[in-house]
Amino acid sequence: MLDKARTLPVDQVFMDIEDAVAPLAKPQARKNIVNALNEGGYDGKIRSVRVNDWTTQWTYADVIEVVEGAGPNLDAIMLPKVQTADQIIALDLLLTQLEKSNGLEVGRIGIEAQIENALGLINVDAIAQASPRVETIIFGPADFMASINMKSLVVGENPPGYDTGDAYHYILMRILMAARAYNKQAIDGPYLQIKDVEGFRRVAARSAALGFDGKWALHPGQVDAANEIYSPDQSDYDHAEMILDAYEYFTSASGGAKGAAMLGDEMIDEASRKMALVMAAKGRAAGLTRTQQFTVPE
Ligand code: GLV
Ligand code: MG
Repeated sequence: MLDKARTLPVDQVFMDIEDAVAPLAKPQARKNIVNALNEGGYDGKIRSVRVNDWTTQWTYADVIEVVEGAGPNLDAIMLPKVQTADQIIALDLLLTQLEKSNGLEVGRIGIEAQIENALGLINVDAIAQASPRVETIIFGPADFMASINMKSLVVGENPPGYDTGDAYHYILMRILMAARAYNKQAIDGPYLQIKDVEGFRRVAARSAALGFDGKWALHPGQVDAANEIYSPDQSDYDHAEMILDAYEYFTSASGGAKGAAMLGDEMIDEASRKMALVMAAKGRAAGLTRTQQFTVPE
């Protein structure tokens, strides 16, 4: 898996020492991860390691071994089951000491905070602000469902009996608001039925529609769907670029210095421009190229 991840078209890889690794295998997992990071080959991808959470006996040794062993080749530590801002501060302090004692740039290694239980969710605003290292807030649906006693074993799908709306809406929106308020990324967690790509698409589409930036892929078979769903489609991307060009023209002197103008049958104004900026930036980042050009009206 560590090898295979090098070849996949993903923005980030994260290597796990937490729940996908049995307790007896954790010491060897730390070594495998250090070796893989130092061997390299993850060019252009963010390299992150998920350590164990602070309520276990493993966290400090995970962080020390990985940062001392592969600090220059590591971009972020993912901290699971974050419940309070203090847990972020504890990791920040440990990282700062490790960076100083190993001659690494202080503050470069980021923190990705996984929200996986009720206490973490009600503290998510403080967690997002607890350190400038925090880059990302991640929803961990499996642990979260267990923590709130949700009556289902199928991660991310609406629980049987919940026949209205989306049972995860509040949680997703709560995480998204903290992320947007403090300029962090919001990332959706895993979909465990790895053969059911349609199911993955359905669940991913919900968080993507709200504004989440991406989702975990547990298997190469989920990667293409994730890349597609969290990118704008071609027509939305073209529309966004058209709005930007049209608004620039209509607000200029030659376009009449207008604050609001018509693009076809649609009124556009400064708020339209802001929406279009978000869509266009995501499309450009995804490598889309426009298929329509704005032409100045006669
Ligand atoms: C991920 O860690 C999850 O619990 O969903
Ligand atoms: Mg979890």
